[in-house]
Amino acid sequence: MPTASHPGDQRRHRAPDADSELDSRVAAVLARHRDAISASLREAVDQARVHAVTDSEIRPLLDSFYGQMAYHFGWVRADLRETDANAGKLMRPTLLLIACELACGIAGRSPSEYGQAMARALTAACAVEIVHNFSLVHDDIEDRDEERRHRPTLWRVWGVSQAINTGDGMFSLARLTLLGLLDQGTAPSLVATLARLLDNTCLRLCEGQHLDMTFEGRQEISVTMYLTMIERKTAALMACALEMGARVGGADDTLAHQLGEFGRALGMAFQLRDDLLGIWANFAQLGKSQAGDLRRKKMSLPVIHALEHATIADREMLLGLYAADGPASDQQVTLALAILERTGAQARVRSVLNEQCERAQALLGACTGPTTIDSEPHACLSTLIEFVAHTV
Ligand code: IPE
Ligand code: MG
Ligand code: MG
Repeated sequence: MPTASHPGDQRRHRAPDADSELDSRVAAVLARHRDAISASLREAVDQARVHAVTDSEIRPLLDSFYGQMAYHFGWVRADLRETDANAGKLMRPTLLLIACELACGIAGRSPSEYGQAMARALTAACAVEIVHNFSLVHDDIEDRDEERRHRPTLWRVWGVSQAINTGDGMFSLARLTLLGLLDQGTAPSLVATLARLLDNTCLRLCEGQHLDMTFEGRQEISVTMYLTMIERKTAALMACALEMGARVGGADDTLAHQLGEFGRALGMAFQLRDDLLGIWANFAQLGKSQAGDLRRKKMSLPVIHALEHATIADREMLLGLYAADGPASDQQVTLALAILERTGAQARVRSVLNEQCERAQALLGACTGPTTIDSEPHACLSTLIEFVAHTV
């Protein structure tokens, strides 16, 4: 049962200037490590390209292979010329670095130990971001999506076969990047722990993608099954980012676990926020048509909730609408919205989102140490909870 103290509720009743105050705090958190992450990511891709075969005939052809990665990251255009496209929020690597800051504070690291830990965390952060992007390249093929971040998807530009291959290359590059920790003098046992964590996470993510595709068009998917799917598809990599940052910062198992669970709750909340925005965002403001997820017939949580709780007639209507080929018409979208409304789908998703935000806040509150620590990393993570709690 939501109470007035839920972050989401607070946000919905905020005045516009409070909204922009939150927006600028979120922007500051995302800017905190952005330049370092971007530079490091570019270096990881460049290094791999430089180490590729130098044969003069082959080299330009391989420039296109690495160029496809650079295109996906938003650094170059389809003709491989430099550009400044939207490279995404870099949320996961930012979270990893903030977790490292927090763990260093709790572990009482000296300034030089802190600098060394942050340099290593940057390496791990790149590995996580490359994994995320490999999964997006493949996801866009799987979903047949033609645009990401307002640009044609990699497969739309270079074809499905090349996009599968480039995605595979990025997966390998992510693992190699993580192993670069060994060159930075990181204890091999810690590197092995992190590598196992990253690979386990990739496996979970692929399980999530498998479930997501399996759920499409199925009628008997329950809310619990859906939550299990998004925990794997989205939340697992967030959990991994936080746990890695914590471990690199010297966290013990308890703290690493707590921060990992914080990341999991935040990741769940992120996906639920997406589900709400996919149906009830102010689409006119975004320049999109209303209820895009209903139009595309996405099996998101509001729809699954509605199928579980609708009257027999409404359920059949919604199922019939989802079973038909092609996107839903304006009239069908209006009908589906009315069914969702009658089942209280929006309120239900909002309350699951709020539960995850509260869980994240409680886990964060429990991340304390014996000494007084810098409160900034805590404040940054708290701001991100407020950000996801903000919906429509
Ligand atoms: C993408 O999931 C998640 C992964 C690649 C693991 P979705 O298919 O639901 O998300 P978008 O809308 O394409 O980003
Ligand atoms: Mg997708
Ligand atoms: Mg998908």
